[in-house]
Amino acid sequence: MQGTGETLLQLHIGRLSVGYGRRRIIEALDLPALEGGTVTALIGPNAAGKTTLLRALAGLVPAKGSIRLDDVELTGLSVAGHARHVTYMPQALPQRVALTVFEATLSALMSSRGDALSAAGAHARALDALARLGISDLAMRGLDELSGGQRQLASLAQSIVREPAVLLLDEPTSALDIHHQLRVMQLVAELVRERSIIVVIVLHDIAQAARYAQRVVVLQNGAVAADGTPEAAITPETLARVYRVEARVERCSHGFLQVIVDRAV
Ligand SMILES: Nc1ncnc2c1ncn2[C@@H]1O[C@H](COP(=O)(O)OP(=O)(O)OP(=O)(O)O)[C@@H](O)[C@H]1O
Ligand SMILES: [Mg+2]
Repeated sequence: MQGTGETLLQLHIGRLSVGYGRRRIIEALDLPALEGGTVTALIGPNAAGKTTLLRALAGLVPAKGSIRLDDVELTGLSVAGHARHVTYMPQALPQRVALTVFEATLSALMSSRGDALSAAGAHARALDALARLGISDLAMRGLDELSGGQRQLASLAQSIVREPAVLLLDEPTSALDIHHQLRVMQLVAELVRERSIIVVIVLHDIAQAARYAQRVVVLQNGAVAADGTPEAAITPETLARVYRVEARVERCSHGFLQVIVDRAV
């Protein structure tokens, strides 16, 4: 179900409602289609509902409404059915897993695509995912003996190895140093170009969102507060309304948007 140059994938989200028990977090959310070959950054304050939205798109929390990938309705599919199309990298990473980085990557691949691959092919793909993230040297290390940033990179390897049509990344760079942050963002851009997939990435770094995403969706209290190109969605007015900060949005000498926050109000 991967997009080709001619027919780009589209993910349609219509009247989506998600909550926990009786508490509604997202109510009848509509979004113009997310398109293959684009990175959408999902930003917004703590507790806005970003993780809840991604978990709903991944089929990990019950949702009402429609999540449609081209003509496949995803709501109502089993977790396994969902996982064939959508991969979600969680914000909080499991701590105590007695697998090596390579084993974890391979088992992520086998759990979604194992039936279609030879053992040698699966091994090669797992090794390739580690290489693309620059963590080949961690392959035989236990997940439980890694640093926080190394664990985050290992978790990313488990997401990208599946080659999903829709890749949902929840703050994938929160534990990374600046080199690894950019490396990951560059890899995401490469994957989107190569495979024409749909990526939705939650970020708190607004300048990074502006630089690497073609579209920015700002979520506030479970609703869309702004949606558009980085220039359209990231403005001093939106930042004041959504984040309660006085901020300037300026271009650096290379033309990239920068956000300078002067004070919290
Ligand atoms: N498992 C849960 N049970 C009940 N309420 C939850 C659960 N998970 C999240 N919530 C609530 O849902 C709301 C949205 O949380 P969510 O995790 O989606 O926010 P977020 O935008 O990802 O925030 P952050 O930037 O802090 O990660 C919050 O009010 C939170 O307390
Ligand atoms: Mg979150």
